Amino acid sequence: MASNIPTFTLNNGVKIPSIGVGTWMGGYEGVEEEAYRTTLLALQNGYRYIDTASGYNTELAVGQAIKDSDVPREEIVVQTKLSPMAHGPRKVKESFEKSLELLGTGWIDVYLIHMPTALNEDWTPSDHPYTETWSQMEALLDTGKVKSIGISNFAIPLIEDLLASAKVVPALNQVELHPYLPSLELKTFCEQKHIHLQAWTPLGKGGDSPLLKDHVITSLAKKHSVTAAQIVLSWGVQRGTSVVPKSSNADRLKQNITLTVLTAEEMDAVTKIHVQDSKKHKSLFHVGAVTEKGGRINGVIPLEKFKWDPALYQ
Ligand code: A2P
Repeated sequence: MASNIPTFTLNNGVKIPSIGVGTWMGGYEGVEEEAYRTTLLALQNGYRYIDTASGYNTELAVGQAIKDSDVPREEIVVQTKLSPMAHGPRKVKESFEKSLELLGTGWIDVYLIHMPTALNEDWTPSDHPYTETWSQMEALLDTGKVKSIGISNFAIPLIEDLLASAKVVPALNQVELHPYLPSLELKTFCEQKHIHLQAWTPLGKGGDSPLLKDHVITSLAKKHSVTAAQIVLSWGVQRGTSVVPKSSNADRLKQNITLTVLTAEEMDAVTKIHVQDSKKHKSLFHVGAVTEKGGRINGVIPLEKFKWDPALYQ
């Protein structure tokens, strides 16, 4: 049975569940198997929103799990993302069709530009403008095979730039968000522009995440008799952002879709963690060693291309 978590309504009237399951499994062997198991478990435990991407190599597995789950397709929101290597002319449509074929879901509910900076085949950053990619994304709406289009990893100046020539306002922007990186300005900006904001890595990568050991969060967890992860996710949803935590464990999947209600004061306490201790105001994204490799996202894209504040990626 689907869980009774809140839904959010996108700027085109489409509704999405406030919690989805992430299926980025890292770049190691066995990602397909883990993504299949995770998606199936998630659907069996009430999730109705699955987040994947061309670049995760999990679309085939996600699609197979959806088919095997016996959950009616119309009940599931399937979200995937354009490969950063598919920004050029005609490539957007080709890449979209490939994703749809791998998923085998008949249509894609939400399709996002994965990152503003395109990559060449050799993984060097390309200068292909995302504004042009966006107009190709808009054209996909005419195919009737995608319900909503959006963006991911776009900071305010890039969204402003995109909106200057866009015919369709992106329905959603998926970025790294959690109490150590609440991106308050971006949130206000997106609200003003009617772009729904969604959190990737909402638990700050779980496991060893400092978030789950943070005193403010653990004391609220104790008070509410829930886990630290549930406080972090409840805060995320209650502030109006959807979240896509990943877990391959049935108990944690269940936990992550069971919210508690925080008071206004408690919400405020979590929102202020990064202000009260400025060392805690930071990205928890270490994949590709943003810092170790000289401020390059995934080791290749200079941080300034994304226009994120370098001080938060130390
Ligand atoms: P696991 O798959 O073993 O549950 P994020 O979505 O922020 O990137 O975090 C994903 C990581 O968080 C995964 O390593 C996942 O491990 C872990 N995780 C997911 N849910 C929880 C939870 N409720 N408590 C602790 N760790 C979690």
